Amino acid sequence: MSKHFSKISVVGLGYVGLPLSLQFARSGVSVLGLDLDPAKVDAINSGQSYLKHYSSESISEQVNAGRFEATTDPVRISEVEAILICVPTPLDEHREPDLSFVLDTAKSLAPCLSPGVLVTLESTTYPGTTEDELRQVLEDGSGMKAGVDFHLAYSPEREDPGREDASVKTIPKVVGGFTPNCGNLAQTLYGQALDNIHRVSSCRAAEATKLLENIFRSVNIALVNELKVVYEAMGIDVHEVISAAATKPFGFMPFRPGPGLGGHCIPIDPFYLTWKAREFGKHTRFIELAGEINTAMPDYVVAKVVDVLNDQGKAVNGSKILILGLAYKANVDDCRESPSFVLMENLVSKGARVEYNDSYVPVIPETREHAHLSGKQSVLIEDKYDLILLSTDHTEYRRFDFSNFNCPIVDTRDCIIQRPAKYFQA
Ligand SMILES: NC(=O)c1ccc[n+]([C@@H]2O[C@H](COP(=O)([O-])OP(=O)(O)OC[C@H]3O[C@@H](n4cnc5c(N)ncnc54)[C@H](O)[C@@H]3O)[C@@H](O)[C@H]2O)c1
Repeated sequence: MSKHFSKISVVGLGYVGLPLSLQFARSGVSVLGLDLDPAKVDAINSGQSYLKHYSSESISEQVNAGRFEATTDPVRISEVEAILICVPTPLDEHREPDLSFVLDTAKSLAPCLSPGVLVTLESTTYPGTTEDELRQVLEDGSGMKAGVDFHLAYSPEREDPGREDASVKTIPKVVGGFTPNCGNLAQTLYGQALDNIHRVSSCRAAEATKLLENIFRSVNIALVNELKVVYEAMGIDVHEVISAAATKPFGFMPFRPGPGLGGHCIPIDPFYLTWKAREFGKHTRFIELAGEINTAMPDYVVAKVVDVLNDQGKAVNGSKILILGLAYKANVDDCRESPSFVLMENLVSKGARVEYNDSYVPVIPETREHAHLSGKQSVLIEDKYDLILLSTDHTEYRRFDFSNFNCPIVDTRDCIIQRPAKYFQA
């Protein structure tokens, strides 16, 4: 008889781990969520959501049904048949992969693994992480052998917070095992909760798949960002061009330019491959070039702001500027790596007095890179600024009537529909 998983643990209850936990719980699997952050654990156990795009009811429904519970105690993972690791994989201060969250998690879990348990890694990482680094730590700490005493697999997360046309359940899941049996078990596990499982031959192939997806986005976004600058110089609206090109029924996929890359994935993940490729004496020129173009976009936007203010007879120094949108993308509360921070800091460094509006981020949370901004609060949208700069295309800005505004508006996303007389794209 084929294996059936009745109790699993999801480790790391953030943007990836929480939705995944809920999906397994809705499918009838009992989920023990594990996180270092007691605030998240308490919130779950009392049926409260901490992610804006998930309701408290969606959590309390599973908690009250006895299918979802959270803990900070790693010893309790001895109760489960599978462990899904969803912890962060950032870059360190030298922009090199920081696997410390994954490896620290493995160290804390290893002594508590039960024989026969399946461990899958979901965090985005370079090929070899699961089979080499993660396996080593789990084997050393448990005294068991992967593929023999416990099972090991990699399955990348494709969560896209805020997306309404696809869900954790419907997005196909790529799965690769350390051994064929590990892969079979992982396929069975995910098949219990998700609609489509795509099996690949190894953990490495699954890790490389995730990186390809994110590198593809980074490179294509860089391409349209570059074209935006070139076409603007020629007096051509890049958004009109992209919409026209998108009518081609084959061989073209539209990407939209913006003020720079944001979020926890696209600005970071490609460099995991860049780093690993060096070990093989290979260079990732596309990745580096895309990174260069994308990180230069905030400078281009600021130059545009300087020009627009100058046309009004004003300097940046002393001007009051309102930034619309702090989240890194539309309709989410996630502002990690958001280009809005870079815009804000750049304008402040030139002497501007900068406020922001974002109903999804009413207060700037603690961040490592922008600690001095934490606690700053969102303000109302009013026609009292020297300039308004739209950075994030939240739907509410699309609906907002700016047509009577006197101050100039610079729109980096082709978002505003009811435009004021002094409207500029950047
Ligand atoms: N956010 C996304 O949209 C997205 C999409 C696809 C893939 N990913 C990848 O998924 C992974 C997780 O990303 P995320 O956005 O969910 O991160 P997150 O920061 O939202 O959540 C990570 C959670 O892990 C917890 N944690 C850290 N160390 C731990 C430990 N040792 N034990 C238990 N809990 C621990 C943190 O407290 C936090 O709650 C990353 O590798 C990311 O690249 C993210």
